[in-house]
Amino acid sequence: MRKLVAGNWKMNGNLAQLAELDAIAAAAEANSGVDVAVCPPFTLIVPARERAPGLAIGAQDVHAKDCGAHTGCISAPMLKEAGARLVIVGHSERRADQYEKDEEVRAKATAALAAGLQTIVCVGESEAQREAGEHIAVVTRQLQGSLPTERGSGELVIAYEPIWAIGTGKTATPEDVREMHAAIRNHVGKGVRILYGGSVKADNAAELFATPNVDGALVGGASLTAAQFVPIIEAAAGV
Ligand code: PGA
Repeated sequence: MRKLVAGNWKMNGNLAQLAELDAIAAAAEANSGVDVAVCPPFTLIVPARERAPGLAIGAQDVHAKDCGAHTGCISAPMLKEAGARLVIVGHSERRADQYEKDEEVRAKATAALAAGLQTIVCVGESEAQREAGEHIAVVTRQLQGSLPTERGSGELVIAYEPIWAIGTGKTATPEDVREMHAAIRNHVGKGVRILYGGSVKADNAAELFATPNVDGALVGGASLTAAQFVPIIEAAAGV
């Protein structure tokens, strides 16, 4: 499967920082065997599309409804109109900070896929759950609860992001990743890309991409600059 390297800027970036997209878009074009995307904050989606028309630009969240009385929310048709090609749903930061549950993540994913967006559904266990040996059971439960039953016209993608590895500099060992991605593959079957996320950097990317069933990466901190993100794109192209 083609690898997908997606950047999640979280609540970072501004118009000036879109200059980073120039070299990221150039790397995406030069490494045409890899799919590359950047998900900036909502307000930067349109200017990012204008700055880098060839690059896939996405969002970090979406509401499950198309329109209505939902102050502060953004719908899948709105994202499509803004030119977004993908969206992340169920990120652990939203599950924690906005108390999102599996059922809501499923509704968001269903709406996004119906709108034709590539939809990255995030799952991952906490450190305590891993230490208790519950990581596979926890992620399996999240998949059962969060994955849509209708696929729409968009592409479903899974991102396994162990919570303890996000923004911490800790990465899961290749053996941890191999075990979890095999379990997820078992659940979703062939043809669904499974990304790894959690402190992916230039120096660990090649090893992660060489791990079975790792079909790409969801990259937070290291996607904010071309200097850090481009080597990850190149690592994906090299395997
Ligand atoms: P990180 O974030 O690469 O900064 O650990 C990954 C993510 O949360 O998607």
